[in-house]
Amino acid sequence: MLTPRIREFTLAAADGTALPAFTAGAHVNVDTPGGATRSYSLTGDPRRRDRYVIAVAREADGRGGSASLVDGAEPGDHLRISPPVNTFPLHRAARYLLVAGGVGITPLRAMYHDLVRRGADVRLLYLTRTPGDTAYRDELAADEAVRLHHSAHAGRLDLWPYLAEPDDDARIYCCGPPSLMDEVHALTMHWRPSRVHFEDFAGVSGTDGTSEPFRALWRPTGQVVDVPATATLLQALRDTGVEVPSSCESGTCGTCRLHRHGGEAEHRDLVLEPHERERYLMPCVSRAPGGATIEVGPVAQAQ
Ligand code: FES
Repeated sequence: MLTPRIREFTLAAADGTALPAFTAGAHVNVDTPGGATRSYSLTGDPRRRDRYVIAVAREADGRGGSASLVDGAEPGDHLRISPPVNTFPLHRAARYLLVAGGVGITPLRAMYHDLVRRGADVRLLYLTRTPGDTAYRDELAADEAVRLHHSAHAGRLDLWPYLAEPDDDARIYCCGPPSLMDEVHALTMHWRPSRVHFEDFAGVSGTDGTSEPFRALWRPTGQVVDVPATATLLQALRDTGVEVPSSCESGTCGTCRLHRHGGEAEHRDLVLEPHERERYLMPCVSRAPGGATIEVGPVAQAQ
């Protein structure tokens, strides 16, 4: 246990072979003992091919997947995981500001060490409630480029001094609870959007109170599928026999990507880059406006 709530896991291939390479910011999807698939950032050293390291928080009000891993997985157990995927990669910049909240430190820790090794100009702000809640505290506290801030003692950190001046040569990477990411998003509205990056595994919902029914035209067969307000496009397609692979089903992993051939989309995912939204759609969460028809098909057929 890194903290009373966060448990670290070291994963190795069951047959002892080298694991697929990854870059800092990557995550794997893990089939948790509870049955749900969840995405976890790789927090260890990308140069190591013999192990992946993840750190998992037991979310008291979560959907149960992480709690089953924290409480139910034991050393020696076999877990099924996906190869690494990086939807939060480091881009070239003159300066980097990493903003981590709570267990959101996991991708940023790998990125921070990677950038330090490369001699980059990097600053890490790491915000937690108390010192006891701070995973990897001893390792990171020793470093001058890291600012640790504990809100239970010092109140919320004022981020404005770090974000007031937009800087086209800098990149900001943020991972943490929705309140922190909302704050950083609001405080960087005057930055070029391409300079500010977020990673959010809490995911989003495709069927919240604002959802409205729409229709989807499945291009390979011409079939028209009604999507009620209470279902996702992914569910509606499956109900009519269309198989679309999925994993997180919360708009974070990138597995369910479909090609969008026509119609307006209401994108809700946390995966697609702005320029990809013209062509693609994540049906586990994204929809079309109420009453509209959207035309979709598999990515492979469209390329
Ligand atoms: S299944 Fe993960 S983004 Fe849709």
